[in-house]
Formats: sequence, C-alpha cells, structure tokens
Amino acid sequence: MTRTAAIAGLLALSLPAQASSGLPFIINTWGGPFTAATDAAYLSLQNPATSALDAVQVGCSTCERNQCDGSVGFGGSPDENCETTLDAMIMDGTTMKSGAVAGLRRIKDAIAVARYVLEYTTHTLLAGDLATQFAVSNGFPLSNLTTAEQAARCTAWREDNCQPNYRINVTPDPKSSCGPYTGTALNSTSPAYKRAITPDASQTSHDTISMIAIHASGIMAAGTSTNGATWKVPGRVGDGPITGSGSYVDGDIGGCGATGDGDIMMRFLPCYQAVENLRQGMSPKLAAEDAVKRILRKYPEGSYGIVVVDKYGEHGGAGSGWTFTYAFRGGSMNATEVVSVPPLNETRLVMQA
Ligand code: GLY
Repeated sequence: MTRTAAIAGLLALSLPAQASSGLPFIINTWGGPFTAATDAAYLSLQNPATSALDAVQVGCSTCERNQCDGSVGFGGSPDENCETTLDAMIMDGTTMKSGAVAGLRRIKDAIAVARYVLEYTTHTLLAGDLATQFAVSNGFPLSNLTTAEQAARCTAWREDNCQPNYRINVTPDPKSSCGPYTGTALNSTSPAYKRAITPDASQTSHDTISMIAIHASGIMAAGTSTNGATWKVPGRVGDGPITGSGSYVDGDIGGCGATGDGDIMMRFLPCYQAVENLRQGMSPKLAAEDAVKRILRKYPEGSYGIVVVDKYGEHGGAGSGWTFTYAFRGGSMNATEVVSVPPLNETRLVMQA
C-alpha cells in the first residue's frame, strides 16, 4: 500500500460513511422534489431487464417532465432572451462511453436525446440548434419550453433593469442596466481585473439532477439533466453535459453526480476527481470532500454539491455554500432516504429556488 493510500484509509476510517443498502441502487443530487426521480429509477430496476442506463434515463426524465424544483426541464432558468435551453449527459460505466447535449433548444427530452447520442453516434456531445436538428431527425417533437409563469418572470426581470446578470467588464454598467453591452478595455494585471473575475455571490439560482444507478448485476451508469443558470448569457453551457463534471462513472470503481455553480465546477472536473479519489482508496465521503475542497481553494464563495458512490453502494457527499442534500434507495428499501450534508464552508447558506 502506498503512503497516500494508507493515509486515505486512516482518514476514511475517521469519517462517517453511509453503508450500502444493497443492490440495485439509485442515488441522486437533492432531496425534496427530486425523490420522485429516485423512486422512478429504483422501481424501474425491479425489472431485471431494465439496464442501469435505462434507470438513469427514467430518473432524469422524471425530473424533466415534472420540473423537480424548476431547475430541470422546460420552463426554468431562462436566459437573457427568456429562452430555456437544456444540458444533459448520460454515461455507461462499463464502456466509459458518454452521450450529451448542450444548449438544446425546443426539445423537452434532453436526457433521452443524450442517450441517442450515446447509442446512435460515436460522438460524445452535440450542441445548440444542430443538436435540436439531430433530435428532430430521430423523432423527438419540437416544443415551446417557455411557460406563462416564466414569461411573467422575464418581464419582471427586465423591469428590474435585468438584475442580476452574469455580465462583467462591460458598458453600460451591468449592475444597473440591461444590454446591449460592449466590452471595456482590460488590463489583466490590474487589481480591478482580478476583482472582476471573482464570481458574484448572488448567482446561485440553479441546481441540477445528477444520478448514479447500480444494476443488481453491479453494472453502473450515471447522468445529469439541467436547464442551467437563470439569466445566463444566451449560448452559455454549464457543467451538466461535461463528462467528469456533471457526472462520471467507472463501473470498476464507482460514480459521482454534481450540482451547483457549473461555470466554476466545470473548471475542476470534480466528478472525475472524486472517482479517481475512490480509486486511490478514499471513502466516498472523503473523495467528495477532497473534490469540493479543490474548488474552494480558488473559489470559496460558490455553491457546490457532489454525491459519490462506490461500486458496492457505499456513499457520501460534500457541499459548500448551501446545505446540499442527496437521495438514495437501494436493496429492499421501501422508501427513498434523504441525506443532508452540512456545508464545508459556511459563508453562504441560502439555497435559492
Ligand atoms: N450545475 C448546473 C449549471 O450550472 O448549469
């Protein structure tokens, strides 16, 4: 055993671990309205003919259709133009193949289209209007993803001078005005520039479903579906469809699902990191904490959450900036359980809808 693995083993022993409740097993980001997805995916696995990939698709589709908390599927997280676009990915833990769509427009079934990318192409990621075209050519119906409630919200946002927004270093001042905006000249060595690249702590109005499934046979899959960040710049893609960021799974080791400030998280591939931490011998809890702490070192003020499960169904989570929760159901459990994860960094505890 290496010294690193020995230290990791000692630390793992000192941390509370959530023992496996047995297989099949489903685990996903967030409790509350997200537990309907946990239940749907778990119940689908009661039929042994349902694969781990099928279960992840069933679970994420459940959130896309019932909108969970508004952060998944149609009618949520409008961009500056009041359009909802969807990001999703699905990953096979046996082949390590993943399929994903980013900035998907006018199609409700993002995780199903991601599955089509996985099953019917040798690509990993399709984006934007051409992802929509791919979906339509495979029989997915076009839909209007904007609801009346969302349209009213957009009107109110514009009347409030487009506050908040994600613009920096532009004129007119994005803290008090709507666009159109023009970039200002920058000196990348100045203190002002350093302040400008610090994320705005008010931008937490989003989260995501990320799910990992373990079939009774031990085969694993993972996936993510989200409508991204509210008032995002049109064209913005978050961490959701990025393999190793939104989710990740290696069936020989375990899987991970993420939620939170995707613009920051995708710079660190936290789910790839967490699964590699498992490979080095860390417990799921320690693997999750290490991955989140790597982000906190540079961005202490964001909102992050990741859930990690090993191939046996032992699990743990870590978060910062909010009280992150995750849901799981496995073995012969009669109901889904929710685990509340205290934030590693307690600077921001408010989770916005
Ligand atoms: N985590 C979802 C997003 O930032 O798009």
